[in-house]
Amino acid sequence: MTTIGFIGSGRIGGALAHLAVAAGHDVVLSNSRGPQSLREAVAGLGARASAGTTTEAALAGDLVVVAIPVRAHRQVPVGPLRGRVVIDTLNYDPARQGVVPEIEAGDTAPQLLLQAHLRDAYVVKAFSTVFFRHLPQLARPAGAPDRSAVPIAGDHGPARAAVATLIDSLGFDAYDVGPLAECRRFAPGSPAQLAYLDPDGMFAAPARPASAADLAALLRQVS
Ligand SMILES: NC(=O)c1ccc[n+]([C@@H]2O[C@H](COP(=O)([O-])OP(=O)(O)OC[C@H]3O[C@@H](n4cnc5c(N)ncnc54)[C@H](OP(=O)(O)O)[C@@H]3O)[C@@H](O)[C@H]2O)c1
Repeated sequence: MTTIGFIGSGRIGGALAHLAVAAGHDVVLSNSRGPQSLREAVAGLGARASAGTTTEAALAGDLVVVAIPVRAHRQVPVGPLRGRVVIDTLNYDPARQGVVPEIEAGDTAPQLLLQAHLRDAYVVKAFSTVFFRHLPQLARPAGAPDRSAVPIAGDHGPARAAVATLIDSLGFDAYDVGPLAECRRFAPGSPAQLAYLDPDGMFAAPARPASAADLAALLRQVS
């Protein structure tokens, strides 16, 4: 089984950690406040979970999920993630998460920010489109007729394949859109980012499964 490190263990990180443990993976959680602040979260996840510093989580993970507010991206440790596969869940939302000057200045596209910071890591955008409460609602075993697909993008083919394998184990099909810059097609505000939302209830309603074919149609709406 795989060990997954988490840098950021809040809503989306925590939801992914629960799916990972349920799938038989080990998880190492971290945040900015230190491992002792994650004691309760670890206890809730059981024996497959532990907590560490961000560096420890980065070094422990066969894959590392980064799930922090975008404004904190510079605090993600660079050295320990060199050569590693990193799942980037981040969405830029300046009103809620704070402004990032280089994005506002147009120097870096929001979706490329983490890869620009982690130049020598293999960053794959994934799970940025799924509301954390919907993750457990949507997960299904392989082959289930209503299994959902989630889009992924990254510049390194083997890293995308490793993330796709993990995603499959968590209960989803990965839909590979190719290079990292292509994640603009499932960026905040795009049709694909709304794929699992019931238009009548939005975030308050139960998630609506979206197949690979559904997702393909939504992704095509952004040229
Ligand atoms: N919530 C969703 O449904 C959802 C869905 C898709 C994508 N996303 C994206 O995923 C990212 C995380 O969102 P979230 O909703 O999970 O946020 P959240 O619930 O606020 O969790 C953020 C986590 O990051 C940690 N953190 C903050 N600063 C850090 C730092 N410098 N170093 C290490 N850890 C740090 C926080 O813990 P401490 O504050 O204790 O350090 C917390 O564990 C955002 O970019 C968001 O746009 C969210």
